[in-house]
Amino acid sequence: MNESLFSLRGRRALVTGGAGPLGSVLADALAGQGCDVIISDVNAGACNDAAAAIADRHGVNAIGIASDLLSSEGTTRLVESVDGPLDVLVNNAAFTGTSGVPGYAVPFEEQSDEAFELASSLNLRAPFSLARQLAPKLAQSPGGSIINVSSIYGIVGPNMGLYEGTRMGNPAAYGATKGGVVQLTRYLSTVLAPKVRVNAFAPGGIARGQADSFTERYEKLTPLGRMATEDDFRGVVVWLASDASRYVTGQTIAVDGGWSAW
Ligand SMILES: NC(=O)c1ccc[n+]([C@@H]2O[C@H](COP(=O)([O-])OP(=O)(O)OC[C@H]3O[C@@H](n4cnc5c(N)ncnc54)[C@H](O)[C@@H]3O)[C@@H](O)[C@H]2O)c1
Repeated sequence: MNESLFSLRGRRALVTGGAGPLGSVLADALAGQGCDVIISDVNAGACNDAAAAIADRHGVNAIGIASDLLSSEGTTRLVESVDGPLDVLVNNAAFTGTSGVPGYAVPFEEQSDEAFELASSLNLRAPFSLARQLAPKLAQSPGGSIINVSSIYGIVGPNMGLYEGTRMGNPAAYGATKGGVVQLTRYLSTVLAPKVRVNAFAPGGIARGQADSFTERYEKLTPLGRMATEDDFRGVVVWLASDASRYVTGQTIAVDGGWSAW
């Protein structure tokens, strides 16, 4: 394989939720291929720290832009703050199963409409809005690429038995919005073609100190026999951002150790 196909030198990426545990690794992976990065997250200090660490490590240009993507105003403010060109948009920010939103990761009967709406706004409306507003800029790039972060729960339903005896939950709004991201990806891929490619990847569960009982059950149901680490997603984000995937659009790549294969 020609290594230059994976090069992102001269390109610039915006990563939302870029100061978080997965977002910062995705930004780091892109920067490792020479990509300049904009780290966006709610906390200004965390954005700037993550950007400074990446600039130090890879010698690329990296900046932080604080933004709260829960509202349309916050999303538009982020778009207006992106000065200069943009080649890659990574929609990573989301409420996950462990976000402490009241009425969200609780038993089904207790899940609230308000929490569903909040998750819809951050997990689905924000990627839509950023893609719509940044598409003209991305279309100017020689390799415009949008990468949406979905989840296995956007492609299969939850197995609630996994969580028995733990404090963990799997909210309806999570799967519904992550499934929405898969369909949004298909939609955008056709309306933004041929100038901008749009793909998603669907991570499997990432090991983050979950209860042993959960981890054991999860691993038994995973063909590759383990939970993910953040580093498992470096390859897919570089591939989807770069010319190595130049004939791929509208797809959701499951990166889940085979979780969704059976
Ligand atoms: N952790 C997993 O096991 C897992 C599995 C499948 C998919 N994913 C997906 O991967 C992505 C990252 O997940 P993670 O586990 O690192 O999540 P996380 O909650 O640890 O981090 C998400 C980031 O989004 C940011 N964020 C939260 N609210 C925001 C707001 N209002 N505006 C802007 N940014 C905001 C957070 O500050 C954080 O940095 C998500 O899209 C998630 O759905 C995660």
